[in-house]
Amino acid sequence: MSQRRVGPRQVNILTLETTCDETAAAIVNDRLEVLASVVASQDDLHRRFGGVVPEIASRAHLERILPVIDETLARAGLSLHDLGAVAVANTPGLAGSLLVGLVAAKTLCVALDIPLLAVNHLQAHIYACRLAAQQEVFPCVGLIISGGHTSLYRCLGPLDFELLGATIDDAAGEAFDKVASMLGLPYPGGPSIQQAAQGGNPRAYNFPRTFLKDEERLDFSFSGLKTAVRYKIVGPGRPDFTKLELDPQQVADLAASFQEAVIDCLVGKAFLALRKTGLQILCVGGGVAANSRLRERLREEAHRQDVTLQIAPLRLCTDNAVMGAIAIERLKAGLTESLDLDVYPGPLRKPAEQSLP
Ligand code: KG4
Ligand code: ZN
Repeated sequence: MSQRRVGPRQVNILTLETTCDETAAAIVNDRLEVLASVVASQDDLHRRFGGVVPEIASRAHLERILPVIDETLARAGLSLHDLGAVAVANTPGLAGSLLVGLVAAKTLCVALDIPLLAVNHLQAHIYACRLAAQQEVFPCVGLIISGGHTSLYRCLGPLDFELLGATIDDAAGEAFDKVASMLGLPYPGGPSIQQAAQGGNPRAYNFPRTFLKDEERLDFSFSGLKTAVRYKIVGPGRPDFTKLELDPQQVADLAASFQEAVIDCLVGKAFLALRKTGLQILCVGGGVAANSRLRERLREEAHRQDVTLQIAPLRLCTDNAVMGAIAIERLKAGLTESLDLDVYPGPLRKPAEQSLP
C-alpha cells in the first residue's frame, strides 16, 4: 500500500467516463500506472430495449457516479486529497450522460482546488493501445470501432488526430446490436453475434461489403448490410414482412456471414489507410475491437503486410476510465480547462480542440 501513496512529484489523476452506458472511474498516475479502475455496466438496464435508452442511462449514471468514485479511491488506497487533477470525457456521447460526469468532475475540482482535464472519448479508445503497449505507438493509424463510432484517424501524436474516414450511417457496433436484435440474440449484440457465429458458415450468405473495393474512400457504411440481413429474415416476396422461423443453424450462418462482412470492411479500410498514409503502426480500440474473429483477421493481415498491430486488450476495448489516462498528455502540455467546460455530444471535427465552443 505504501508505494501507492503520493510521492513528492507524482500526480494522481481521477478519470471519469460516463459517455454512454458505463459509469466508470479510474486513478492513474503521471507514470501511466493504473492504481484502480471501476466499471459499473448498465447492460442489464438496457437489455430489454435491445439498445441504450439515453434517459435511463443518464439517471443510472446519477445514481452510480459517487459510489463508483468512492470504490475507486478505496481500491487505490487513496483519499480525495491525494488527487492532483480530475479528468472527464466530455465528447462525444449522450448529452445527459456526459453531463453527469462533467458536473461530478467540476464539483471535485472546485472542492479540492485542483485542475480539470478534458478527455476526448475517441482519442482515449486509441490511447488504450498506448497504455497496453507500454511504449510509444505514435505516429499511427487509429481505427476506432464502437457502438457509436467507426472512424479512421491519422494519429501523429496523442493530441494530434486527423480524421481520414468514418461511417456514413450506422457504426459497426450499432450494426452488431441491431442485427443481433433481428436474430433474437441478447443485447449487447457484439458478443452474442460472436458466440452465435462460432457454429456458422461465414460464406453461407454473400452480404454486401460497401466501399470495400473503392480505393479512394476510407469511409464505411453498414446500413445496407443490415438491411440485407433483414431481408434474409423477413424472406423475399413477403409483403406482410412476417418473420421466417429461423433454426439455430440459420441463425449461426447469418451471424457468421454478417460478422465476416463487417470484418472485411474494417480490415480492408484500416490497411488501405496504412498504405495511403505510409504509416507502419495500426492501433485498434473500441468495443468491437473485442471481437475475436476480427482480432484474428487483423493479426493475420498485419503479419502479411509487416505492420505493427497494437490492439487494446479486452478489458480496455469496451468503455472504461483507464483509457482516460490520455488526460496526462494534456496535463503535460498545459491544456487544463476552465470551469465553463461544456459537453459536446457529436464528434468534433478537430478532436484535440474539445474545450473550444
Ligand atoms: O466502445 P464501447 O464499449 O461503447 C461505445 O463507445 O459505443 O462499444 C460498445 C459496442 C457495442 O455495440 C457492442 O455490441 C460492441 O461494442 N461489442 C462487440 C463485441 N463486444 C462489444 N462487437 C463485436 N464483437 C464483440 N465481441
Ligand atoms: Zn466507447
